[in-house]
Amino acid sequence: LDNGLARTPPMGWMSWQRFRCITDCKSYPDECISESLFRRHADLLADEGYAEAGYEYVIIDDCWLEKNRDTKTNKLVADLKRFPSGLNALADHASHTIHDRGLKFGLYQDFGTHTCAGYPGVINHMELDAQTFADWQVDYVKLDGCYANISDMAVGYPEFGRLLNHTGRPMVYSCSWPAYQEPNGEMPDYESLKQHCNLWRNWDDIDDSLESLLQITDYFAKNQDRIQPHGGPGHWNDPDMLLLGNYGLSYDQSKLQMAIWAIMAAPLIMSNDLASVRPEIKDILQNRHVIAVNQDPLGIQGRRLLVKNNIEVWRRPITPEAPSGEYSYALAFVSRRTDGAPYSISFTLKELYLNNLKGYGVQDLYKNNLDMGVFGLESQFKTRVIPNGVTFFKFTAL
Ligand code: GLA
Repeated sequence: LDNGLARTPPMGWMSWQRFRCITDCKSYPDECISESLFRRHADLLADEGYAEAGYEYVIIDDCWLEKNRDTKTNKLVADLKRFPSGLNALADHASHTIHDRGLKFGLYQDFGTHTCAGYPGVINHMELDAQTFADWQVDYVKLDGCYANISDMAVGYPEFGRLLNHTGRPMVYSCSWPAYQEPNGEMPDYESLKQHCNLWRNWDDIDDSLESLLQITDYFAKNQDRIQPHGGPGHWNDPDMLLLGNYGLSYDQSKLQMAIWAIMAAPLIMSNDLASVRPEIKDILQNRHVIAVNQDPLGIQGRRLLVKNNIEVWRRPITPEAPSGEYSYALAFVSRRTDGAPYSISFTLKELYLNNLKGYGVQDLYKNNLDMGVFGLESQFKTRVIPNGVTFFKFTAL
């Protein structure tokens, strides 16, 4: 969507993966979907270095609404107990609000009659709701697709986008319509998605496990010819949230997700309890070399290039270009091996489709850009990857 927004993949924090639809604030005061959860996370983003690293959007996912619209105005109403100050106050410029902390405000809604968790959706009130979002100073809208006619989506999603645009307030528009179409046998129209949305969920929800993560990366790899060309500045494929800092991924698997998300030019939307993210995981989330790959201004989405001995090679063209016009590349070596020992593997540069005649300077992105020397076209590149682990390098064309 050419609205000047999301020129690089959006970065931020969203409630769903970690906090789901916890609404019992009596039993779980620190976890329930409530204004204090979002204020606390806005503060943590700003105070713990995340905002400086680029994480910008604070996104309220499902379960923020009252079960009914306002009977007089038909407007959406945030849950009166859990958001006693209202959403505008949460976004506003008073102290300890999202905008006050220099962050941006994202909000979930649904194209259908109800959100996935059963709260009122936008379907018969699209114009009113778009205006309400603008009045509440929303900067990012995630529009889900539960309880909707899938055949209405190709027209309805662009229509809601036009209504958002019509308010005059710039809002990133995240669409979920392909994630509903494809499993129901309709092939998403990526040309239309590119034109009407800043990002879109292509496939299933991520869960807190390596298994779920790999199902998603396999989906993107298997369908990359169809999907990858459509990612770019202003319009991104979205493989769903980062799991880092939760229960399911080990330290090395956390590096693995971050590396593949960087290669895929995926939105970096964390969903975790930022107060309890361990320091070594925080270092991965804030690794500026890896984030630079994700945010590379060329905005070319990478691909799974090949698989050899159960080691996957993922590769993304990045800046700078060499005088010869050859791209530099980020390369991730992802082990799908589960035998016990680290596995050593070598590749010729030709095997990795690296053709710059002067060769490449190589740096290790997970070792603070440690210089690995220069590799000419005749060289072998060797790396040693642990089971379900990753190594990640930048190949700068010389
Ligand atoms: C769907 C979406 C999730 C989340 C939930 C909320 O499953 O794909 O990302 O927003 O709905 O109910």
